[in-house]
Amino acid sequence: MTRPAAPSRVLVILSSLVEEYAGLKFEPDENGAFSDRVTTRSLEAGFESLLDYYYYLRYDPRGPDELKKLVDDLVVNETYLFRELDALRVAVTHFLKPRVEAGQRPRLWSAACSTGEEPATVAMLLAQEGLLEHVDLVASDISEKVLARARAGQWSRRALREVPSPTLVTRWMREDPAGAPRLDPEVLRRIDFRRINLTDPGEVRSVGPCDVVLCRNVLIYFSDETASKVVANLSQNLKADGALFVGVSESLLRLGTALACEEIDRSFFYRKTA
Ligand SMILES: C[S@@+](CC[C@H](N)C(=O)[O-])C[C@H]1O[C@@H](n2cnc3c(N)ncnc32)[C@H](O)[C@@H]1O
Repeated sequence: MTRPAAPSRVLVILSSLVEEYAGLKFEPDENGAFSDRVTTRSLEAGFESLLDYYYYLRYDPRGPDELKKLVDDLVVNETYLFRELDALRVAVTHFLKPRVEAGQRPRLWSAACSTGEEPATVAMLLAQEGLLEHVDLVASDISEKVLARARAGQWSRRALREVPSPTLVTRWMREDPAGAPRLDPEVLRRIDFRRINLTDPGEVRSVGPCDVVLCRNVLIYFSDETASKVVANLSQNLKADGALFVGVSESLLRLGTALACEEIDRSFFYRKTA
């Protein structure tokens, strides 16, 4: 099978379609990664012409399902256990624990959880403190492919590339026969995994009020305009005095937000003050 030509005009409308649907911004260069992945996916879907593929995505009743598959192939799923752990400790110690101690049942949402290492890390921290049964954990991603892996709670050895807290691993993880890390099923079953597109306000609302929202290492793939809208929508889900955590290399100050930036133990987060 010959690879179809990739005229930049088609790539431009395809990248706009992806951005409209998932917020993800790609450079539609003819020789770039976007062109490569879209071309590969279009061939897998049986299209030799990218323009035909575009029309299928846009107008065919099966287009929305195919668009999900295309986005699955485009997203960057890089994540690992204990990533940016200090911030997760702050979320547990300063937001979840005091609420449990006050007799409440707090809720944390790991939005854009990828293959699940982020909510798994939070769940292990909570289990270690004896708090896991008293907190609701929701974890979501746009990609069904990564969510299937997250629900299995089984990762490659690369997921353990940084182990700042070996006691958590010893206590809550096992090695499967192939030597890959596996989360204790009792811990895993406490995480409610869902498919949520962060650029869809209705889907975001459906998660309901949260004490903590983790939206880490995903805003970087959006335009500033999209990132601002996503942050505004996530803020609506925050309870008063709740907090939004973004990745350490991300900042909301440039985007503008009604949330107040604070720092505890060198970790920054954004608190809903009213
Ligand atoms: C780099 S991973 C970050 C994982 C984790 N939060 C972390 O910090 O390690 C980015 C994730 O964002 C997800 N994502 C991208 N666009 C999204 C959208 N519009 N809605 C929900 N998730 C999205 C991707 O599927 C991917 O799994």
